[in-house]
Amino acid sequence: METSSVLVIVFCFLLLGNGVQSLSMEHQPYRTGFHFQPPRNWMNDPNGPMYYKGVYHLFYQYNPYAAVWGNITWAHSISYDLVDWIHLENALSPDDPFDINGCWSGSATFLTGGKPVVLYTGSDTMKHQVQNLAEPKNLSDPLLREWVKSSHNPLMTPVDGIEPEFFRDPTTAWQGPDGLWRVLVGNRMDGHGWALLYRSRDFITWTRSKEPLHSSTRTGMWECPDFYPVSVDGKEGVDTSSFDDSTKHVLKASFNDCDHYVLGNYTPVTDNYSVDTDFLENGSDLRYDYGNFYASKTFFDGGKKRRILWGWIQEADSTTNDIEKGWSGLQSVPRSILLSKTGKQLVQWPVEEIEKLRTGNVSFENKKLEGGSVLEVSGITPSQADVEVSFDLSNLEEAELMDPSWIDPQLLCRQKTAPVRGNIGPFGILAFASKDMTEQTAIFFRVFRSDDKHVVLMCSDQSRSSLREGLKKETYGTFIDIDPLHEKISLRSLIDHSIVESFGGDGRACITARVYPKSAIDNQSYLYAFNNGTFDVNISNLNAWSMKKAQIVSSTKRRKPHLD
Ligand SMILES: *[C@@H]1O[C@H](CO)[C@@H](O)[C@H](O)[C@H]1NC(C)=O
Ligand SMILES: *[C@@H]1O[C@H](CO)[C@@H](O)[C@H](O)[C@H]1NC(C)=O
Ligand SMILES: *[C@@H]1O[C@H](CO)[C@@H](O)[C@H](O)[C@H]1NC(C)=O
Ligand SMILES: *[C@@H]1O[C@H](CO)[C@@H](O)[C@H](O)[C@H]1NC(C)=O
Ligand SMILES: *[C@@H]1O[C@H](CO)[C@@H](O)[C@H](O)[C@H]1NC(C)=O
Ligand SMILES: *[C@@H]1O[C@H](CO)[C@@H](O)[C@H](O)[C@H]1NC(C)=O
Ligand SMILES: *[C@@H]1O[C@H](CO)[C@@H](O)[C@H](O)[C@H]1NC(C)=O
Ligand SMILES: *[C@@H]1O[C@H](CO)[C@@H](O)[C@H](O)[C@H]1NC(C)=O
Repeated sequence: METSSVLVIVFCFLLLGNGVQSLSMEHQPYRTGFHFQPPRNWMNDPNGPMYYKGVYHLFYQYNPYAAVWGNITWAHSISYDLVDWIHLENALSPDDPFDINGCWSGSATFLTGGKPVVLYTGSDTMKHQVQNLAEPKNLSDPLLREWVKSSHNPLMTPVDGIEPEFFRDPTTAWQGPDGLWRVLVGNRMDGHGWALLYRSRDFITWTRSKEPLHSSTRTGMWECPDFYPVSVDGKEGVDTSSFDDSTKHVLKASFNDCDHYVLGNYTPVTDNYSVDTDFLENGSDLRYDYGNFYASKTFFDGGKKRRILWGWIQEADSTTNDIEKGWSGLQSVPRSILLSKTGKQLVQWPVEEIEKLRTGNVSFENKKLEGGSVLEVSGITPSQADVEVSFDLSNLEEAELMDPSWIDPQLLCRQKTAPVRGNIGPFGILAFASKDMTEQTAIFFRVFRSDDKHVVLMCSDQSRSSLREGLKKETYGTFIDIDPLHEKISLRSLIDHSIVESFGGDGRACITARVYPKSAIDNQSYLYAFNNGTFDVNISNLNAWSMKKAQIVSSTKRRKPHLD
């Protein structure tokens, strides 16, 4: 650890001395301050995240030449704290017959003895999808700068009825009690989503299992599957190859622009995975995030014994504007992921390291928010902020009756946007608001009554997020498992120039939105707490911080650090 700190200081010094800020960018109001982005160009899926010898590695799908998808390469960045990052040279480039049309997504695995390797999809000379292996050239280099593709590539090819265009995104592999490695590959067969299972003794020769680990006739192609254990006590993360009675297994698949997951029990001897509730592909299913969040991947952080989730957050602007601003795509703030106390869903929370960026705090307690009122949160930088608020409701008997036909939360949020007044709610925050509030991104809750229980709806309403035309201004929503009789309704939002990542109910529901205000930018952006219900609500606590900028540095001409 000590050597790492020294190393980062020396390395940053060298990089800075080497002309880091080579980009001459004009005003960029939508570029983020503490979300991970390359200096320019296109980025999509996170790939092969791992923690190796005190260093966090993030690889990602990258076009070195333009702000649109193409020429896909594995870019590579490293960090000592998941906050500040250093961009290194690209790890994998499409220059071999088995990946000449793109080095697509994949995952890292630590082999016995701790050697990291990656499996990734190549688009070959025929544009067929095949699975390839690469390994670090120098295992003593904690930065793993150079990668070597295996001479055995491709290792898995689309044979025996696999459609060559629908065969991609290998997971992190895990090892069963029989010593065999297992890996999943995303697939479409008969028009539906499959997680194909392969086994190998030596990580080179892979045999496809007759049965997939899981499949669903309700969905289309599964991209970027992820499969990992979570501890039932919900306290720590678990390494991918651990399994016992104290774990459940998560299977995630990306389809329909969302990352859906199911929970179930996995028996490694038979590779039987029996799910608690299956994929639904409707508004009631379990998703990591009910907004803009896709092609995610988790990894086990052996240093802090936690599982961390990264996800790709796309632009919601036009391609023309992406090209003009010179970049496209963000990574979410890394989130730690655990099983909830109920065992029925996952909970997510931004990694604690991100709190190092907090500065200039504003806070208040026990404040009444009358029906139809707003309260400005002043004294921080509202366009780059972290805000936590919790609401206390003592008048729940006034909640409107839940209509049994309201089964689709996203539809409900679209119909009942922030200006639609209810009894208890909408209440929440207005991010990226202009002073006159003609621009605002409202993240809010509504409470309904049904039989003997309360139903809490969480929405992120982008319909008034910008006066600019030609943007996607979708409204997102979900029901959230909170009983407001017995607990406060909490919200945390990470606000960063063109993104709001919101965590409701201590991370039981996450909604991420991309917004591009016309006037509510930089110091013209305001933050409010609001209540547009007819009844009062109480803010029991509000804490907001300005966020410092993360140090995300790169160099076009890289030098190797000289440590001694
Ligand atoms: C990038 O890809 C496009 C087609 O996808 C190709 O025409 C172009 O030559 C590529 N650029 C480079 C520099 O490889
Ligand atoms: C491997 O990496 C270590 C640590 O960075 C370095 O000292 C060594 O010279 C490297 N070996 C080669 C062959 O590059
Ligand atoms: C898998 O588990 C399910 C549910 O427990 C069971 O019905 C099924 O027979 C099992 N399949 C195998 C191959 O063990
Ligand atoms: C935030 O500021 C308040 C005073 O306004 C202070 O009481 C509180 O301790 C601060 N909290 C943090 C986490 O800094
Ligand atoms: C808000 O708090 C005050 C003072 O504690 C209390 O009298 C009132 O009933 C609360 N109102 C609501 C809506 O919770
Ligand atoms: C989704 O499907 C399940 C099972 O068929 C059903 O119970 C639920 O109401 C559906 N939700 C929506 C939003 O259609
Ligand atoms: C509250 O509702 C009123 C009436 O629909 C609307 O004019 C106003 O914009 C709403 N306020 C917010 C913050 O949405
Ligand atoms: C807001 O930012 C603009 C442009 O950077 C600057 O000219 C202006 O002084 C700032 N206003 C305030 C109140 O800080």
